[in-house]
Amino acid sequence: MRVLVGGGTGFIGTALSQLLNARGHEVTLVSRQPGPGRITWDELAASGLPSCDAAVNLAGENILNPLRRWNETFQKEQPLSLALQPEFLQGRNTSGPGKVQGENIQMALSPNGEILRAKGAYYQPSLTAEYDEDSPGGDFDFFSNLVTKWEAAARLPGDSTRQVVVRSGVVLGRGGGAIGHMLLPFRLGLGGPIGSGHQFFPWIHIGDLAGILTHALEANHVHGVLNGVAPSSATNAEFAQALGAALGHRAFIPVPSTIVQAVFGRERAIMLLEGQNVIPRRTLATGYQYSFPELGAALKEIVA
Ligand SMILES: NC(=O)c1ccc[n+]([C@@H]2O[C@H](COP(=O)([O-])OP(=O)(O)OC[C@H]3O[C@@H](n4cnc5c(N)ncnc54)[C@H](OP(=O)(O)O)[C@@H]3O)[C@@H](O)[C@H]2O)c1
Repeated sequence: MRVLVGGGTGFIGTALSQLLNARGHEVTLVSRQPGPGRITWDELAASGLPSCDAAVNLAGENILNPLRRWNETFQKEQPLSLALQPEFLQGRNTSGPGKVQGENIQMALSPNGEILRAKGAYYQPSLTAEYDEDSPGGDFDFFSNLVTKWEAAARLPGDSTRQVVVRSGVVLGRGGGAIGHMLLPFRLGLGGPIGSGHQFFPWIHIGDLAGILTHALEANHVHGVLNGVAPSSATNAEFAQALGAALGHRAFIPVPSTIVQAVFGRERAIMLLEGQNVIPRRTLATGYQYSFPELGAALKEIVA
C-alpha cells in the first residue's frame, strides 16, 4: 500500500513509518520542511495528493509544550493547522492522481491530541465514569470543542472513502512524548503523582498506537472512531508508582497542583490534574491484539 503520513516526521509518525515499512508498505511523509522521502504541505496544496492508497494525518502542535505560553496566538494557531484538513482531504479528492485510491482509506489522529495525550479531552473528566467510543463528549470546554471541530474537518460527507479517527491517550515510548519529560526526575527519585493522583491516566504504548493505525489501514472492516488507549486503565498515582518500579526507584514525591498551574497555566493544567477512564471497546471489537496491554510491562520495555 502507498501511504501518505502527514506530520510523519514526529514521535508517532516515525514509529508508524517504521512499522509500515517493515510490513512492506511504501511511505511518503508530508512535512513543513522539504527532505528526502517527503513532500511539503505547500506542494500538496499546489499539486494535489500524489498517487496513494491511504493518508494518515499526525500533524499538529504540542499543546502541552511548557515553553510556549497558552495565549491567544497559540490558541488561534490550532484551528489554523486544522484548516489544512479540508484542503488536504477534500480539495483534491476527485479524480486522477489527486485521489486516494485503491483501499480508499483516510485516517486521522487528533492533531490536538496533546489534549488527548493528557487525558482524552473529548470525554469530560471524571473520577467515576467509563468512556468508550460511543460515549458523549466534545462539547464542554475549549479543548473538547477543538477535538470536535477537528474530527468534523477530517470527515468527508457523502464520500465513499473509508475513514478512521483514532482518539489517542498519552503515548508512552522511548525517545519522545510524555516519558521523555518524565525520565530525568524519576531517575533522580524526584518523580511522583501529579496533584491528588486519583485522576485517570489514559495511556498507550507507542508500539500499540502504531499497531492500531496499521491495523486500521490494513483491515477493510475498520471504520469510524477507535480509542487509542490500552485496555487496562490506571490512575496517575498508579502510573507514577509503575514508572518508579520500572526504574527501580520509589516515586512518592507528589507534584502539587499549584506548580502544574504555574508551569502550564490554569487552563492547560486541567489536562494534567483531571483525567478520564477511556475504554478501547471498538478497538478490541475490530480484532486488534495489544502487544502491551499492561502498564508495568509497557514501562519496563520502554526504560530497559
Ligand atoms: N505524543 C502523544 O502522547 C500524543 C497523544 C495523543 C495525540 N497526539 C497527537 O498526535 C500527533 C502526533 O504526535 P507526536 O507526539 O508524534 O507529535 P510530534 O513529535 O510533535 O510530531 C508532530 C508533527 O507535526 C508537525 N507539526 C507540528 N506543528 C505543526 C503545525 N502547527 N502545523 C502543521 N504541522 C505541524 C511536525 O512535522 P514537521 O515539522 O515535519 O512539519 C511534527 O513532526 C499530534 O497531533 C499530537 O498532538 C500525540
